Amino acid sequence: MEAFWNSVRPLFHPDPPGGAGAAAAERGIESADKAPDLCGPSGAVFAADPMALAGSKAHPLIAGTKVHLVTFGCQMNKYDSEMVAGLLGEHGAGFVPNEDDAELLVFNTCSVRGRAEDRVYGRLSYLKRRKSRDPGFLIAVMGCMAQKEGEQIAQRFPYVDLIVGTRQLHQFSSLLERVREGAPTPLLAIDESPKVEFGETVARRESRHMAYLTVTRGCNKRCTYCVVPYTRGPEASRPIEDVVAEARRLVNDGVVEIMLLGQTIDTYGYDLGRERANLTKLLRAMHAVEGLKRIRFITSHPEECQEDLWRAMSDLGDKVMPFVHMPAQSGSDRVLRRMARGYTRQRYTEVVEMARRFCPEVEIACDWIVGFCGESDADFEASVAMMEEIRFQSSYIFKYSPREGTPALNLEDDVPEEVKRARNQRLLDLQERISLEKNRAHVGRVEDVLAEGPSKTDPSRLTGRSRQHKLVHFPGGAELAGKIVPVRVTGATGLSLQGETVMGGRE
Ligand code: SAH
Ligand code: SF4
Ligand code: F3S
Repeated sequence: MEAFWNSVRPLFHPDPPGGAGAAAAERGIESADKAPDLCGPSGAVFAADPMALAGSKAHPLIAGTKVHLVTFGCQMNKYDSEMVAGLLGEHGAGFVPNEDDAELLVFNTCSVRGRAEDRVYGRLSYLKRRKSRDPGFLIAVMGCMAQKEGEQIAQRFPYVDLIVGTRQLHQFSSLLERVREGAPTPLLAIDESPKVEFGETVARRESRHMAYLTVTRGCNKRCTYCVVPYTRGPEASRPIEDVVAEARRLVNDGVVEIMLLGQTIDTYGYDLGRERANLTKLLRAMHAVEGLKRIRFITSHPEECQEDLWRAMSDLGDKVMPFVHMPAQSGSDRVLRRMARGYTRQRYTEVVEMARRFCPEVEIACDWIVGFCGESDADFEASVAMMEEIRFQSSYIFKYSPREGTPALNLEDDVPEEVKRARNQRLLDLQERISLEKNRAHVGRVEDVLAEGPSKTDPSRLTGRSRQHKLVHFPGGAELAGKIVPVRVTGATGLSLQGETVMGGRE
């Protein structure tokens, strides 16, 4: 699955591969190289008899269609892709690892920075020739760009068949059927639906044992640089029972770790009534799901994080993992005010202190924007100092990208590109050093690692995640995938830990 790590890596980046994930990202490693596009858990899974495989839900206009799905953007987009793939799979579609073999190519898109959009425009332009050669080949654009730029995409790329916004994804199959039935194209579906309900669909995941699960869609904040409230709409939470039911389906499908997703996960449930649903209640309910071994949640907002969350994390620490993704964006109060983030550096620091008091093990990942409108050298130095002071496990660092429709467009984008680049690099270098120091401190310790599967570069080794979400490589066979394995750490880079399994379990 193609995602982002670089400028196309936006929202929350729950799985920064150590601090260097950020570093690598900004140095141009595209996640298309790291993870397959969505073609099923083990490459091509094109069924010989898709109708039989899909069972009663198979639809003649979809069954047998070879699909390739490319995801840009954040984990929420990944979740959406996995659910849409699940939906298409239920209707009998198959998935192919190679875009050239696809009869339906789907782009799940992101608008968070200019480059994310440019990459999709580039790919759509490139497809014009193929489409004129093969009119039966279908192109669909879904997600945040579809929502925000749907009309323009339809005008600029009239050969696109289907455009589906963020609030109509659950209708993807029926929209595809309409296209196949001969509806005029591009078929545009970008109205606001109140709820996105995927019914009982089980996500078709990239990872067999780890799953994303969106619990709140949209965002009620208005950070001045950010396009997400406009692409995803207002906050809408799913009732705890729904989330738990989906978690149970995932566990039945082999999942042992779930990452709960929300733009500001701390406000989960506020729209349903805080007494009925809130993050700590949700964590307790998830904790009770039999067979589920690990729970994570992202993204935390420093203004919203309350003490009861850290208490809950500490109480439920056997299953709720000690990892928090809490973007700071800047260490300067002046910049934070201009961003309308709603907290000061002092407040951020207090939240971290509180978290560490209740959960000494907790590791914190951060996002930063450099070169925001009016960011002076002194403002930037405040970010450097804050990064040094808090010592994050990892950071994603982004150069400010002005977005149409956001309040910051009224401010001047006055930091020159080369200054943005230099500031970006300085934070990357600092984070890399901190990540390396922190990872080295783990050498000699035994970590519980959820083995995800064979390493992509060396099949005799396994890749997994520690409790703190550090990437760990260790020798082992595929039979360990999905198991939590004690691993003694023998080496560290800024990106990952290396280790050996501890025979006979923990010593
Ligand atoms: N909801 C999350 C993250 C939102 S977007 C939060 O509030 O923390 C993911 C990250 O992309 C942000 O944390 C921010 O660092 C970055 N980002 C968002 N808009 C941006 C823009 N216009 N330019 C550069 N980076 C941006
Ligand atoms: Fe964007 Fe701010 Fe909402 Fe995060 S909290 S999605 S940065 S508006
Ligand atoms: Fe995610 Fe990008 Fe949309 S960050 S919410 S896919 S704009």
